[in-house]
Amino acid sequence: MHMATTPQPSGSPLQKLDDWDAFLEGRYKEGKAQSEFRQYDAQANPGVAEFYRLNHEKQTLDYVLAKEKEYFGLHRGQKNIWEAADYLNTLVDDSDPDTDLTQIEHLLQTSEAVRGDGHPEWMIVTAFVHDLGKVLCLYGEPQWGVVGDTFPVGCAWSDQIVFCEYFKGNPDANVPEYQSEYGIYKPACGLENVHMSFGHDGYIAEVLKSYLPDEALYMLRFHSFYAWHRHSAYAHLMNRKDERMLGWVRKFNPYDLYSKGHTKPDVKQLKPYYEDLFAKFFPDQIAW
Ligand SMILES: [Fe+2]
Ligand SMILES: [Fe+2]
Repeated sequence: MHMATTPQPSGSPLQKLDDWDAFLEGRYKEGKAQSEFRQYDAQANPGVAEFYRLNHEKQTLDYVLAKEKEYFGLHRGQKNIWEAADYLNTLVDDSDPDTDLTQIEHLLQTSEAVRGDGHPEWMIVTAFVHDLGKVLCLYGEPQWGVVGDTFPVGCAWSDQIVFCEYFKGNPDANVPEYQSEYGIYKPACGLENVHMSFGHDGYIAEVLKSYLPDEALYMLRFHSFYAWHRHSAYAHLMNRKDERMLGWVRKFNPYDLYSKGHTKPDVKQLKPYYEDLFAKFFPDQIAW
């Protein structure tokens, strides 16, 4: 029997990374009234609330710049897509093997849903790879530095960011330059020129930026930027390209949110199709 009460080491308030995904799904459940929101947040999800407290307090501009320097040069070795997925699959957290899906099963569920709706091949590939950046956990990054809603750093935080009250504990709150509307940025500078809180989204976009179209890269880079794609915040930083791309990010989001059923995809049967598909987009080895 699965026990859900295992005490977690401090700094790992989520039992497993997927708890954050489940929280998102609940947050954006259709037909839910705004008033149910906060209640769902704080009381029913103390682990999630603690996770966001850590995330919001620790994702400073300096932290983000240091992590970008550490990871965006892609010095973590070569792997193809399937090898990266197998590697991510070694991520074992406190999950229930009877009901929980493995990481690869999660990826395939998302990509198969996209494929089932007749979307182009680049979008099927994008759906498969969108969470591969969670390998950051296997590099030793903390939960709050891998998953969670993302947001710009170096400028004022939007009140549309979930649990935004926790930003008062972020050292950047005391830097007036970072607290103005534009902060270190120029009006309409474009979201690709903004430093986002560090996590699996930005990392996978950097790994794959030479191989996929802009629409795909926006889906990867901004898929957890709910304040933007769901709540329309940060319009003052958007350029024309962001305006064109927003629709694609929104098109992808339901697949990310709602494709997590409990039917296990047949990994062995699907693998040949995906290997052929990856060969159309990626070289044999990719720098991570
Ligand atoms: Fe994700
Ligand atoms: Fe996802």
